Amino acid sequence: MKGVILAGGLGSRLAPLTKVTNKHLLPVYNKPMVFFPIECLVTAGIKDVLLVTGGNSAGDFLRLLGNGREFGLNSLNYAYQVGEGGIAEALRLAEQWSGNDKICVVLGDNIIEKNIRAAVTSFDKVERGARILLKKVHDPERFGVASLQGDRVVKIVEKPKQPESDLAVIGIYMYDRQVFDIIKTLKPSNRGELEITDVNNAYIERGQLTYDILDGWWTDAGTFESLVHASELVRKGGANHAD
Ligand code: DAU
Repeated sequence: MKGVILAGGLGSRLAPLTKVTNKHLLPVYNKPMVFFPIECLVTAGIKDVLLVTGGNSAGDFLRLLGNGREFGLNSLNYAYQVGEGGIAEALRLAEQWSGNDKICVVLGDNIIEKNIRAAVTSFDKVERGARILLKKVHDPERFGVASLQGDRVVKIVEKPKQPESDLAVIGIYMYDRQVFDIIKTLKPSNRGELEITDVNNAYIERGQLTYDILDGWWTDAGTFESLVHASELVRKGGANHAD
């Protein structure tokens, strides 16, 4: 399986911190934010990674990360997203690079405590489909929210005003090649973006979406509050991706 890190977008929720640099280069306690999704993939055994970025300071990623060897990667490739047309639009840039491999997509502002090795290994064995990771949260209205029936996800709603559950869809997704055909069918949402939630709902319609519940803490770091929270969690010694 290959890995894709999505680190595009303009980070407008963190302005003015993001006026002259990219959100994913900002510090989370003692490391640049983008280190965490890289470590998440490496500890899951994924060694070939594409980083999609955008904005003004895209060249800084190359200066910071180089060829990725320091992290234990075999290869680190880069793609450039113009504007901020959404997570699914950024993912579209991975089509040629991923070839026939399945992919594990990690949002550049998502940080987890433990590792996803078990989920990646089991998805590697299935023939087709997608797998998402869910986590109980106290503020589901900030995220994609999954509704379950028995052991199936029947629906995901992006940032619902009245969430049907407290299960957030975290920003780590596993897909087969169908994802790129699905993205081609998407229409921009009310916020003008191609939504990853629409991709996941398309897999639900095909009866091909499975899920795991994430073990350990998870946070995004895309708002002032969550950025401070993420730094605090990391400072307390988390995000070492131990079992
Ligand atoms: O954090 C998990 C949540 O991430 C999910 O629960 C939601 O379903 C999903 O839509 C997403 O929600 P956000 O609105 O918080 O995503 P945000 O716009 O902050 O983008 C998250 C990352 O995705 C960002 O750090 C970089 C990447 N991205 C985003 C956009 C809009 C891109 O690479 N390109 C883009 O155009």
